[in-house]
Amino acid sequence: MTTATGVTHVNAHMSPAITHEASRRLPGWNRTNMATPSGQLWVQVCLLVFLTAVQILAGRDFYKILGVPKDASTNQIKRAYRKLAMQYHPDKNPDDPEADEKFHDIGAAYEVLSDADKRKTYDRHGEEGLKEGSNFDPFGSFSSFFGDFFTDGDDFFGHHHDVPMGGDVLVDLEVTLEELYNGEFLEIIRYKPVAKTTKGMRKCNCRQEMKTTQLGPGRFQMMQETVCDECPAVKMVTEEKVLEVEIEQGMRDGHEYPFLSEGEPHIDGEPGDLKFRIIQLKHEKFERRGDDLYTNVTISLEDALTGFEMDIQHLDGHKVHIVRDKVTWPGSKIRKKDEGMPNYENNNSRGVLVITFDVEFPKGSITEENKEALRKVLQQGSSQTVYNGLQGY
Ligand SMILES: *[C@@H]1O[C@H](CO)[C@@H](O)[C@H](O)[C@H]1NC(C)=O
Ligand SMILES: *[C@@H]1O[C@H](CO)[C@@H](O)[C@H](O)[C@H]1NC(C)=O
Repeated sequence: MTTATGVTHVNAHMSPAITHEASRRLPGWNRTNMATPSGQLWVQVCLLVFLTAVQILAGRDFYKILGVPKDASTNQIKRAYRKLAMQYHPDKNPDDPEADEKFHDIGAAYEVLSDADKRKTYDRHGEEGLKEGSNFDPFGSFSSFFGDFFTDGDDFFGHHHDVPMGGDVLVDLEVTLEELYNGEFLEIIRYKPVAKTTKGMRKCNCRQEMKTTQLGPGRFQMMQETVCDECPAVKMVTEEKVLEVEIEQGMRDGHEYPFLSEGEPHIDGEPGDLKFRIIQLKHEKFERRGDDLYTNVTISLEDALTGFEMDIQHLDGHKVHIVRDKVTWPGSKIRKKDEGMPNYENNNSRGVLVITFDVEFPKGSITEENKEALRKVLQQGSSQTVYNGLQGY
């Protein structure tokens, strides 16, 4: 699972596990006595009071803010957050207090709904229930998805110019074909060296300067000298940080995925970038070529001659149904439109799935009697043709 020093690839395959708490009934709702009309009225009054109370207490509607249903999966929440946070980031909307407020709402909504415990509390008691956890840092979540960057930078998502930079780090990230087909979030724990101020001073921003000294009348000496400033001393501290890498549907092998300023630190400047390079793992059943998928199926000679029906389980679990009535010869192909990979650039377009059949013949020998029966059924006669198969004729 470990892909590179200091970077661990965790729980790639366990994210849809979030509970559907939202759709669960609140205690007491479904066990009140509904038999008598007065009982029913009482329940209705209670319900009304309760709903009003919920509305007053609820605060912000985090589901609405992210535009996801109440039973949204963690991936849906992350996807919605990533899209909206990018759109409403203050750097993209300078001097727009509305966008700023929206950005904070989105951050708070994400922080609550992405945490199973907080989400459960929120579903029961609304935002009020989360009192102690209401100190949100919207930039913290943001940097998990995009990396750190400097809000006073010259360009959005860019580094300062003329500032020394740490090295970029490129990490291979192995991704399954299922993840590339369905889309997935991978949580990467990054142990990141961070410069922290400590006691004492150090020399910094060192540069070469020309110094001129007068040695006597009309005589000067020029020499290069290293000049430094005094800065507070720093030490490197390792911080653990979770990065959320969105594997988008249809991403290809070699695709690079940047996190700004998550690369190597630079003591006098900014850290370099961290880049993940998508490495598509081989799959047992499917081979990818561009957006097309290829698979092989071995059928029995009986199936080949008499026809058959079968299902191929696809990368998201859905079934591709195949019906053959005619004879299927070894090497014959079926092309299933739109059953290939989703296209990365255009989510409405998919490749094809090419299924190639080979035929498993029975082993051993056949009795004289059965041979005669087969000749009768096949009516092919005995025939042999010699040809150059590599040239196709
Ligand atoms: C599997 O199918 C491909 C074409 O899709 C074909 O070239 C290859 O020979 C097949 N493999 C076997 C073992 O039949
Ligand atoms: C598909 O692409 C369109 C346009 O690029 C976009 O508006 C839409 O949200 C996308 N749908 C999904 C499910 O990603």
